[in-house]
Amino acid sequence: MRIEADRFLKDLHALRGFGASGVGKGVVRPAYSDADIAARRWLARQMEDAGLRVEVDAMGNLFGLAEGPSLLLGSHSDSQPEGGWLDGALGVIAALEVARAARDAGGPAVSVVSFQDEEGRFGVTTGSAVWSGQLTQKDADRLVDHAGIALGDARRAVADMVTGAVSAEQFTGFIELHIEQGPTLDTSGEQIGVVTDIVGIRDMKITFEGQQNHAGTTPMHLRRDAFQAVSAFNAVLNDRLRNVVTPQTVWTIGHLSLHPNASSIVPGRAVFSMQWRDADSDRLGRMETVIRTAASEIAEDRGMDLSYGPMLGLEPVSMDQRLRSALEAGAEAVAPGKWRTLPSGALHDATNVSRLMPVAMLFVPSIGGLSHTFEEDTGEADLVAGVQVLAHAVARLGSEA
Ligand code: GLV
Ligand code: MN
Ligand code: MN
Repeated sequence: MRIEADRFLKDLHALRGFGASGVGKGVVRPAYSDADIAARRWLARQMEDAGLRVEVDAMGNLFGLAEGPSLLLGSHSDSQPEGGWLDGALGVIAALEVARAARDAGGPAVSVVSFQDEEGRFGVTTGSAVWSGQLTQKDADRLVDHAGIALGDARRAVADMVTGAVSAEQFTGFIELHIEQGPTLDTSGEQIGVVTDIVGIRDMKITFEGQQNHAGTTPMHLRRDAFQAVSAFNAVLNDRLRNVVTPQTVWTIGHLSLHPNASSIVPGRAVFSMQWRDADSDRLGRMETVIRTAASEIAEDRGMDLSYGPMLGLEPVSMDQRLRSALEAGAEAVAPGKWRTLPSGALHDATNVSRLMPVAMLFVPSIGGLSHTFEEDTGEADLVAGVQVLAHAVARLGSEA
């Protein structure tokens, strides 16, 4: 199977053109935005040109299907509100290139997917969560983004592309190439990471509701200031979690909305995201108890009403040994002595897809360990090596079948 590196890189840059931020190589292409839909239409044309049959489900997950049973390759083409050009995009364009190379080589059959809303405008890996049955369409439709828009309304933007449900039964396995998004490979100087496991995640919104009031006349001891409640909660939480976590555990308050968000008003309401990740489901549960207890205590001490949004989450998963071995053999062939196995601290569509079929993943380095920022990047030689390892693994799996 012959990968055409120039064609692959040209398409990767073409996808970057949809929602290019103008800052570095960054993109702004959140799920269902105009840029996301334009990118999906362009991708659909590339899939057709590659001889694949295009199908789009109600979420806007975009498939390019080969005839008969096939391996599914891909990732996602939506981005964070400030995203890098490779997060997801690399896996989709690499899949397209391998599908073309496999067709030219006379097999094996390769299908391509770009899942929708992996970046969680509405939830956690929402498109693949619905496709895999982890989340019902009805529950997904009720999820709202930070601006209060419901997914059920937002997905009308893809309605004219929808062809219907796409059965997972035609696929023999799923492989996702992705950037590492962390510092391990960049620091070690290695070119390829073969993923062993993907961490689990929990994510929910928390609301403290106090009393909006005048910032000049309201004495400090009479205030029910929602921002002060968040600030105190964060300090208590960091302290208490120390007894529960490992050095690999992470937790983040990444979004905070204050109402009405004005300099001279004591904020009456704070809504914030609370997200935590770990490789151990039990620890995720213990962290939840710490989080809810700390929030209740702060609310009671400070006269706040406390409420929670829906609890979203995915369990940790291990990669399939057979697919992993094919990737390891590919890594040794393409980058001898310059690869390793490693766990993924980022979430991926592969977690959801593992409910339906064997899955595996491989990583290429992220320069400076940066991702979810416009600065995200990877050296061209590493990008091409990633596609070559993927092609190698696909050819090997085809010959085993
Ligand atoms: C996916 O982008 C994640 O948040 O890990
Ligand atoms: Mn991603
Ligand atoms: Mn991401």
